[in-house]
Amino acid sequence: MNPVHEPSRRQIVQAALATGALAAVSHAASRTAGNSTVTESTAILRPPMAHELPPLPYADTALDPIISAKTISFHYGKHHKAYVDNLNGLLKDLPDLAGLSLEDLIKKVAGDSSKAGVFNNAAQIWNHTFYWKSLHPKGGGKPTGKLADKINASFGDYDKFKEAFANAAKTQFGSGWAWLVANGDKLEVVKTPNAETPLTQGKKCLLTIDVWEHAYYLDFQNKRPDYVTAVIEKLLNWEFAAANLG
Ligand SMILES: [Fe+2]
Repeated sequence: MNPVHEPSRRQIVQAALATGALAAVSHAASRTAGNSTVTESTAILRPPMAHELPPLPYADTALDPIISAKTISFHYGKHHKAYVDNLNGLLKDLPDLAGLSLEDLIKKVAGDSSKAGVFNNAAQIWNHTFYWKSLHPKGGGKPTGKLADKINASFGDYDKFKEAFANAAKTQFGSGWAWLVANGDKLEVVKTPNAETPLTQGKKCLLTIDVWEHAYYLDFQNKRPDYVTAVIEKLLNWEFAAANLG
């Protein structure tokens, strides 16, 4: 190849900076500059990190029989992973958004209809990661300490909270989520459709239950109320909720 027509590394860098294509820069630079330059260029021109599927916080059999390993294989291994893959694919064409943290990205594109695909996939990544942490194989029962006091102050007592949380999860029409959130000093139960999340409403999320059919259909078929009751009574991770409350 005629070196006259080979773009200089500086030209490559400038062109890529103009388009935000930093990943392409590192690759191009490595091709033109050899191995010794790869280390230097990638250190200087670090591309935005791709979003990753966080590890499950327990074994895929840990929530059985309420949530079977088969459900987790699809729910975590297929659905949750697909949101990550979809988002990374969309962000390849949106360099201005590619460097944002997941939470910042969700807040930035919320309500922007032109970025609905980005919002839906990003929020679903966040919601699902939060959902897995909201469950624990030795969960359920009643909260204690400061969180119990907040539950009592906000709902009257634990049973009234349980009724409100279960009702939100059972009555969310179609796909969505039920949440326990802190809104200022008060705890609230809210439900959101599809990928919507209280994260964009200035509320602090404490716990969630996924009520998309993919969360329970293999184990409970159409009996969403049975899934909801079992999750609340046996799986809710109150230590996670307490940590979120702070
Ligand atoms: Fe889900």
